[in-house]
Amino acid sequence: MKRILIKDTINKINEPVLLKGWVHNHRRLGKMVFVDLRDRSGIIQVLFMDRMLEKANQIRPEWVVEITGKVVERGGKNKNESSPTGGVEIHATELKVLSEALTPPFPVNDETKAQETSEDLRMKYRYLDLRRPSMRQNLALRAKVNQFIRNFLTSEDFLEVETPFLTKGTPEGAREYIVPARNFPGKFYVLPQSPQQFKQLLMVAGIERYFQIAKCFRDEDQRADRQPEFTQLDLEISFTEREEILALIEKMIISLVKEVCPEKHITRTPFPRITYKEAMETHKTDKPDIRKDKNDKNELGFAFIIDFPLFEYSEAEKKLVPSHHLFTSPQDPEGFLKGEVEPEQAISKQYDLALNGFEVAGGSIRIHDWKLQEKIFEILKIGKTEAEKRFGHMHKAFSYGVPPHGGIALGLDRLIAILAGESNIREIMAFPKTNDAKDLMMDAPTELPKAQLDEAHIQIKKK
Ligand code: AMO
Repeated sequence: MKRILIKDTINKINEPVLLKGWVHNHRRLGKMVFVDLRDRSGIIQVLFMDRMLEKANQIRPEWVVEITGKVVERGGKNKNESSPTGGVEIHATELKVLSEALTPPFPVNDETKAQETSEDLRMKYRYLDLRRPSMRQNLALRAKVNQFIRNFLTSEDFLEVETPFLTKGTPEGAREYIVPARNFPGKFYVLPQSPQQFKQLLMVAGIERYFQIAKCFRDEDQRADRQPEFTQLDLEISFTEREEILALIEKMIISLVKEVCPEKHITRTPFPRITYKEAMETHKTDKPDIRKDKNDKNELGFAFIIDFPLFEYSEAEKKLVPSHHLFTSPQDPEGFLKGEVEPEQAISKQYDLALNGFEVAGGSIRIHDWKLQEKIFEILKIGKTEAEKRFGHMHKAFSYGVPPHGGIALGLDRLIAILAGESNIREIMAFPKTNDAKDLMMDAPTELPKAQLDEAHIQIKKK
C-alpha cells in the first residue's frame, strides 16, 4: 500500500490506509491504546485494540512508526472539532516501528510547556523544537513570503541575481566577520553586511532592476530583532526616484498581506510618508508605531520615514558618520558639492519603512557622481589613499557609465516575525543563534585543529 498523508484521511472513510510519522501522544484507557500520530500535514488519533494492544503498549512519544488501519468516522461527541482530522480516527491493524526515540528533553507535544522551556535547551535541540506544529507554521509562513516576493518582483520585471559571500568589506556600520584566505597569508575575505556594493555594480552592469533574497552578516550585539546572520530582500533600480521605490514596496506589501495573511489589516494606505523631523517631534522616534489599537494582534501600521539627515554625530568615534551608508545621496547634490549646505544640516535621500514600531526596511537614492562621493569621504575623514583602497573598484566602475540609481532592503526576519505575531526573530528562523551569537546545536564557534590553523596562517594569541 502507498503511504498517504494524515490530512488526506478525511477523504478515505472506511478504507484501509498506510500512515507514517511520529508518535505525538500515547495513552492507555482500559483495553484500548490511543496514539496521536503526527506527520508534516497534521495529527490524527489512532486506536489500538485486541491483538494490537501489546505492541502498541511498547511504543513511546517521538518514536517513528508505520501504521496500517481503517479510517473510521468518529460519531457525535467523540468528534474533535478543533482538529481538521478530528472527525475521523484510524483503527489500527498493523504497527511497525521504524525507529525508537529517547525521551525528548522538553515536551514536543505541548506547545505551552515547550515555550516555557529554557531557550538554550530549545536551541540545543532545535530539530525537536521544530517538530512543534507552531514552529512548522512559522517556517511555512516564511517560505510563502519568499515565494510571494519572488513571483511579485519577477512579474515586475526584476532579475534575481546572487552575489558572493566571500568578498571585501561593505560599510553598514557594524563589525565584520572575517575569513582567512589560505592562499594569501595575512589576507582576509570579509562576509558582506549587505550586498550594497554588488547591487550598485549590477546597475553599472546594466541589469536595471535587481533583487535578491540575501543573507547578510553583521557582528553586532544581539537583540530580539537582531541576529548575526539574517536575511534581506535586497533590491536596486536604475533611472529611478524615491517615489517609484516606495510605491513598489507599498504595492508588494499590500498584496503580500492580502495573499499570505488575509486576517491582518493595514492601519493606513497609502502608507503615510512622515519626515524624520516630524517623526522625532511627534513620536520621539524614527520608527514610529502608528497603529490605532496596539492590542489588536492583526493590525499592521506601516509608515515610510523620509528626509533623514545625511550624517549623525558619533559620540564613540567623535566624528560625523553616515546616517544610512556613505553611498547615500544628499537631497541637493549640486548645492552640497558647492559647499552651500553645512554637512550637519544636510538632508539625504534616505528612506526607512517602520512597522508597528520596528524598522523593517531602509534604502536610499545613491550617489552616482564620484566627485560627490569624494566630498562625502572628505567629510567622513576617509583619506584619498584609504578611499582608493576601499572603494577604488567602485570609482573605476562608475567611470564606465553609471546610471542614476537607488534601492532598498527589507529585513525579512523582522517583517515575518511581526506577521507571525512573534516578538523575537529567532522564532521564524530555522537555526538561529543565541544572544551571544552561538549555535548551541552545532556547537559553533569552535576551536580548530592546529593543522587547520597553520594552513590558514593563524596563530592564536595567548590571553
Ligand atoms: P540597513 O542596514 O538599514 O540597510 O538594513 C536593512 C534592513 O535589514 C534589517 N536588519 C536586520 N535584521 C536582523 N538582524 C540584523 N542584525 C539586522 N540588521 C539590519 C532591518 C533593516 O531595516 N544596504 C542597505 C540597504 C539599501 O540602502 O538599499 C542596508 O543594508 O530591517
